[in-house]
Amino acid sequence: MKIPEQGMSPQQVMEQLQQARSGDADWRSGRTWSLVYWAGEEHTELLKRAYSACFSENGLSPLAFPSLKRFETEVLAMAADMLGGGPDSCGSLTSGGTESILMAVKSARQWARAERPHVTSPELLLPITAHPAFEKAAHYLGVKPVHVPVGKDFRADVAAARELLSDNTILVVGSAPSFPQGVVDPIEELAALAAGHGLPCHVDACLGGFLLPWLRELGREIPPFDFSVPGVTSISADIHKYGFAAKGASCILYRDEQLRRHQYFAYSTWPGGIYVSPTMTGTRPGGAIAAAWACLQHLGRKGYLDLARRIMDLSDRLRKGIAAIEGLYIFGQPVASVFGFGLEEGNVYLLGELMEQRGWHLDRLQDPPGLHLMVTPVHEPVVQPFLDDLAECTRQAREQADESLSGMAAVYGMMATIDDRSQADAMAIEFLSQLMKPEA
Ligand SMILES: Cc1ncc(COP(=O)(O)O)c(C=O)c1O
Repeated sequence: MKIPEQGMSPQQVMEQLQQARSGDADWRSGRTWSLVYWAGEEHTELLKRAYSACFSENGLSPLAFPSLKRFETEVLAMAADMLGGGPDSCGSLTSGGTESILMAVKSARQWARAERPHVTSPELLLPITAHPAFEKAAHYLGVKPVHVPVGKDFRADVAAARELLSDNTILVVGSAPSFPQGVVDPIEELAALAAGHGLPCHVDACLGGFLLPWLRELGREIPPFDFSVPGVTSISADIHKYGFAAKGASCILYRDEQLRRHQYFAYSTWPGGIYVSPTMTGTRPGGAIAAAWACLQHLGRKGYLDLARRIMDLSDRLRKGIAAIEGLYIFGQPVASVFGFGLEEGNVYLLGELMEQRGWHLDRLQDPPGLHLMVTPVHEPVVQPFLDDLAECTRQAREQADESLSGMAAVYGMMATIDDRSQADAMAIEFLSQLMKPEA
């Protein structure tokens, strides 16, 4: 394939673009339970306008674009305030949760290099339920992940963490909440463990950062997870998830300057000039920064509280409905609108396939096997139709033997039979390599 010799008109391009989208997940119908966070048409239009206004600007240079610097620092200050930060709290905007987590691990690694020179093989202490972005960070940054088991409630086992902590540990991690089961790790105990050894503690609130504070205000029981907990030194919180901003916006926040300095990168001997950059990326899209600022300004505290109330009302109805279906059970005690469920008898992946055939896209969980929901206001009109289909498909899945598994059920079934996880990883990479060919 080559760049076309003669470009097409904007109209032709858009026609082709829209045509290409016809096979995409139809999230607007509420049948997709992950990937997209939507807070209404008016809000989305504002995000687009703010994004477009700063479409060409580049957050790499706060000197050239003081407006972007202002938007970024104001968003960070508002987020830190929401998450119990004090006057010294600071951070950076990043492209998403993964980059925020990469930065948290990078800061801890650099901190250890400066303050713990005896550490030659740095280790990251993280619950098995922590997001794979930590594994990625460990992989990229030459840090060894040390896995903390979780209890029956799917929360990190602090006693096990204590045993696994070593002279090489550079960072202790907890989630608020975790992706798979939506539970909050015992952050107070993990942070105390870290602080007791003079170590930083990162809370991954990519999912909950812009939701849990409002749920607490609404009177829900939310375990302590933010900077109000002594020993929590950094927090990741995604504005492009339950913050409802445009994609490409997350906060990495620090209790104070000390750790953030270790995040920054400078190279002052380059013939191209003195280079200094806060995060992974060089160029930083001005649109995402402006839209994040516009989002917070538009929703305000009241807007977030209203959204949180609506989302939790939907989640409560869904959880109650799922638990009432014979054979299904919810994993643990999810605190918010992210949760998983399993099937007592039968193959839950088969249930996933049957739901897929009816147009419902649910993420798959493993260990234990389950299906996953991330609830947003787009799901408002589909609660009952979803529950009706789920009840019917559950009945079918419990009756049907699994010999004839297809689709993701076959993939998960096959992957579960492979003992060597590096072989399973290699197969996943091979799958992606094949998928990303234009003809695939
Ligand atoms: C708990 C948690 N942390 C981190 C991430 C990574 O975020 P992103 O996909 O924006 O990189 C996710 C994504 O779902 C998440 O659920």
